[in-house]
Amino acid sequence: KPFVKSKIQDLAKYRDQRVSVSGWIHRLRAQKGLVFIVLRDGTGLVQIVLQGDLANAYQTSELTLESTIEVKGEIKKLPDGKTAPGGHELIADFYRVYGLAPSGEEAFSNRVQEDADPSLLLDRRHLTLRGDTLSAVFKVRAALLTAFRKTLTDLGTIEVTPPCMVQSMVEGGSTLFNLDYYGEPAYLTQSSQLYLETVVPALGNCFCIQESFRAERSHTRRHLSEYTHLEVEVGFVTFEDLLQHVEKVIIGVTNDLMSQPDIKELILQLNPKFKAPNQKFRRMRYTDALEWLNDHGIINSDTGEKFKFGDDISEAEERRMTDEINEPILLTHFPVEIKSFYMEKDSEDTRVTESVDCLLPNVGEVVGGSMRIMHYDELMAAFKREKMDPTPYEFFLDMRKYGAYPHGGYGLGVERILAWICDRFTVRECSLYPRFAGRCKP
Ligand code: 4AD
Ligand code: MG
Repeated sequence: KPFVKSKIQDLAKYRDQRVSVSGWIHRLRAQKGLVFIVLRDGTGLVQIVLQGDLANAYQTSELTLESTIEVKGEIKKLPDGKTAPGGHELIADFYRVYGLAPSGEEAFSNRVQEDADPSLLLDRRHLTLRGDTLSAVFKVRAALLTAFRKTLTDLGTIEVTPPCMVQSMVEGGSTLFNLDYYGEPAYLTQSSQLYLETVVPALGNCFCIQESFRAERSHTRRHLSEYTHLEVEVGFVTFEDLLQHVEKVIIGVTNDLMSQPDIKELILQLNPKFKAPNQKFRRMRYTDALEWLNDHGIINSDTGEKFKFGDDISEAEERRMTDEINEPILLTHFPVEIKSFYMEKDSEDTRVTESVDCLLPNVGEVVGGSMRIMHYDELMAAFKREKMDPTPYEFFLDMRKYGAYPHGGYGLGVERILAWICDRFTVRECSLYPRFAGRCKP
């Protein structure tokens, strides 16, 4: 008999027709002479019913969870009162096995036991990815990357792909991964910012979505050794323009996601309270944040004292503030000495930089950005102040001789914004095969 080969997500198109679907057994249950299989093919789930001879044959078969099968049969709308994925079920008249998965003791059943030992779950990531939660997170992640590309393209920025193997550092020497590059020292990139700065005069405003690498010794909820870094660089802007760019991108992508019914459903499954932001984010200067922390009796854990100008706001303290305020914050004007060498100073108060961190509830810093030092001499002075050898930065310095321009940009941690959207406890859940101190496998 003829049939249509279909992916599970398209089955609704073939109601009352004979179809063939292939996939993995997600759930399995025998009941009163019937066998119910929930089959998964990555695009969705469908309930399959084996009855009569097929159900009898099942008794002697060795079907197990995660075995791969092909099933043929008619796709039928469910009668009122019954529920199954897609509102239909496949009444099978044929099935065959591609690969049987182990059963009993041998079987890895932790696919669904999301509270199992985290390190075991990570060792078995190739299986745990198949579970409902992780697969939902990675579907949202795919939609998020598409939404970033769309939003940024609509804003007139062009995508480029800078190198990951580099000889210049951007965010401090302490988190560099060293690389033996044909006998020469090199690193895995921490940020593509320096390259993006050189692209604007050639292609105009630009962005990249690239892996960045940080040798972070600290085991925190939001640090990875390798993460996906969305970076943007824009020319002829003011600091205020830059802040609005960050706002527009976050508002744009989250509203785009929530406008797609299937993605919205996944997000709300993971994070029932999620609402895409719509208005301007709250602005807060670094000094306001210190005041807020002091007013709330939060002590600086580094010094054991009240916060004072020049102090770093650590992750825990930043999170307490963000969670309490519970809305996106643009935290601006950090002191020169706690920020990166390339940041432009505020013309009204040269103790501080035109810098911004965007903080989101439950995660804290998701974006870090700034206006860049525009002129060659000032940048050289910054290298001197930071005791950095300018040699590897020749390209970056030289470009300033050929048409310096006011510009700024920012970097956004994709796993961090995903953790916010999907309400994940750690960014490790938002990276396909997370890398952090102590783990570089599978
Ligand atoms: O604040 P960062 O270090 O800024 C930069 O790298 C700039 N050069 C970016 C730019 O202006 N083009 O990093 C930017 C963002 C952080 O706000 C955070 O979201 C993310 O990258 N990030 C990390 N995410 C996961 N694991 C880590 N170890 C991260 N380090 C930074
Ligand atoms: Mg930062």
